[in-house]
Amino acid sequence: MLYYTVKITNLEINNSVFLAPMSGYTDSSFRQLCKKMGAGMVYTEFVSSEGIVRESEKSFNYLKFCTAERPIGIQMFGHNPQVMADAAVIIEERYKPDLIDLNFGCSVRKVVSKNAGAALLKDLPLLESITKSVVHAVQTPVTAKIRAGWNQQSIVVQNVAEILQNAGIAGITLHPRTASDGFRNKANWTLIAELKKMVSIPVIGNGDIRTPEDALRMEKITGCDAVMIGRAAIGNPWIFRQIGQLQRGEQGYTGPTLAEKVAMCLSQIRLERQFSDDDHVNRIMKKFYRYYVHGFPNAAEIRNRLVNSKSLDQTVETLQNLLESVREKVD
Ligand SMILES: Cc1cc2nc3c(=O)[nH]c(=O)nc-3n(C[C@H](O)[C@H](O)[C@H](O)COP(=O)(O)O)c2cc1C
Repeated sequence: MLYYTVKITNLEINNSVFLAPMSGYTDSSFRQLCKKMGAGMVYTEFVSSEGIVRESEKSFNYLKFCTAERPIGIQMFGHNPQVMADAAVIIEERYKPDLIDLNFGCSVRKVVSKNAGAALLKDLPLLESITKSVVHAVQTPVTAKIRAGWNQQSIVVQNVAEILQNAGIAGITLHPRTASDGFRNKANWTLIAELKKMVSIPVIGNGDIRTPEDALRMEKITGCDAVMIGRAAIGNPWIFRQIGQLQRGEQGYTGPTLAEKVAMCLSQIRLERQFSDDDHVNRIMKKFYRYYVHGFPNAAEIRNRLVNSKSLDQTVETLQNLLESVREKVD
């Protein structure tokens, strides 16, 4: 049963379907929409511990969230135990998130080349040292998000789980692919089931949940305490509501209407505009349009119009006209 309360140390989360951290996508605006649609827990995009201790404005911007997003985890990456601990203290003092999450799974070059993210799965003593130093530095519960290993020849879930649990980590998210897999091959859910048997702390299963049915299937197959959804939530915050509907045994679940999709897109733009200038909003939103216009008979043409729009005002006007056209059809 996914729609139940899950506890991570003393933090009570009122449902166990979480939004994954996704750099470039899960900013405050999008997190708010997912929360409204029923996500139990959300995470910031990952942020560099080095940037935080340097007090970089760009890094601090990633850390901002509003009360409606709680419970929220701030995720950070880095390779230096002292810097990671110092950054955790700054995060705790200034932002008071519900969780601090350590990224031991990112496989992009700019992160692993600095010996951070998934590169730490090749250096378990350093991973242990980082974990201990952060856990000791803060009162906030600290969780970790890992991949299965560096490559198929070095699956380290068991060793890492032991290290993390002994170091006082409050919960583990596993995306059961290796760093070299990237997003190739299938996420190996068997590893989530094995991890669940190994540890007494909560296990959050992640990877390849594409439909509401998949979420329930992952929980059933692996026994994980919560599931985390990444790509399937992009432009589709309804997936959280749908899982709830499926779980409650309602007759199927409802997909969003075309009008709801356009209205959601407009809401996201409105929220984005509260934080950022129009250029920034345009850059972010361009990644989302194809999801929100999917299902329109002339989706490609609408998307091109939105992506090539000269100004955000023009974009909003296009979307409002689109909304009226689909509402008229409904009336
Ligand atoms: C565009 C994108 C950005 C991501 N950024 C992060 C990140 O900042 N931190 C992190 O731990 N994982 C990140 N991930 C990985 C996701 O959190 C998740 O583990 C992965 O997408 C598998 O889940 P899914 O199959 O539900 O998408 C990212 C994934 C994508 C597609």
